[in-house]
Amino acid sequence: MTTTFEALPTGEDLDTAIARGQRAYELDRKHVFHSWSAQAQIKPMTVLAAQGSYLWDGDGNRLLDFSSQLVNTNIGHQHPKVVAAIAEQAAKLCTIAPQHVNDARSEAARLVAERTPGDLNRIFFTNGGADAVEHAVRMARLHTGRYKVLSRYRSYHGGTDTAINLTGDPRRWPNDYASSGVVRFNGPFLYRSTFHSENEQQETQRALEHLDRLIQMEGPDSFAAIILESVPGTAGIMVPPPGYLAGVREICDRYGIVFIADEVMAGFGRTGKWFAIDNFDVVPDLITFAKGVTSGYIPLGGVAINEAIYSTFADRAYPGGLTYSGHPLA
Ligand SMILES: Cc1ncc(COP(=O)(O)O)c(C=O)c1O
Repeated sequence: MTTTFEALPTGEDLDTAIARGQRAYELDRKHVFHSWSAQAQIKPMTVLAAQGSYLWDGDGNRLLDFSSQLVNTNIGHQHPKVVAAIAEQAAKLCTIAPQHVNDARSEAARLVAERTPGDLNRIFFTNGGADAVEHAVRMARLHTGRYKVLSRYRSYHGGTDTAINLTGDPRRWPNDYASSGVVRFNGPFLYRSTFHSENEQQETQRALEHLDRLIQMEGPDSFAAIILESVPGTAGIMVPPPGYLAGVREICDRYGIVFIADEVMAGFGRTGKWFAIDNFDVVPDLITFAKGVTSGYIPLGGVAINEAIYSTFADRAYPGGLTYSGHPLA
């Protein structure tokens, strides 16, 4: 949506800003390799500036950012308090290796743990959502001693190897390794019901029966985890019907399967609660988060871990890490 011309928040005059954008575009087309794209066929939009809910494109038009970028700028662009906090932290301590205690990370972990449901009070920080998913699955596999993972069709879990193989939409197809140990199932969606349901109650019951039967046929002892977006995001905003997530929790408890709630897109206020799963009064075993946790200002993701899974790694090393786990700026 285009509105009337508004002065750029950078304070530049329009011609200077447009010239800057044109040079950026030329360099982009010469050197930048874009995600999910046929490189020679795209004409990416230039952004000269962003503030609040608005963007300024390469011609200086002010646009309303309806998509919040990749559904991550939850508090809008360039919030002055956050920009000031980043500058303050940059002056204090830009980076430190992850084995060291630093107050920025300790405080961030406390703040996240205070908002997660149940006993998910231990936080492992990652760089973004896909690596949070990778680590959540690794934790579940080591915790259970099992390998296979369940995920639903019409889901997205990230672009790295495990995460894209868990993904239940066409973005997986060119990246699919049949050996990844993922078994996919149909989730509830009354509008296009796979189960020919006529109401939400039927949809919940039939979707849960389908999942239970699938697990029984595949071997209940072979599953480490079920991963579900609490409210699916890019594959279609499909709010689970009442009772579905509680039913998944019960199935997980029955078979000793770890319940991973992927809150990368739905978390941090996107559904009006801190986490989308809070709308359903269900406590998963692991939560993956990213995006809105920093409103995207600095890349950050993480896994919130419950006490039982934390205990698995109390006296046994967790075999995984990242140079930037808990980066002070983020
Ligand atoms: C539900 C969900 N999980 C994981 C991811 C991957 O996050 P990232 O792109 O930060 O790796 C996304 C990204 O859109 C997502 O929507």
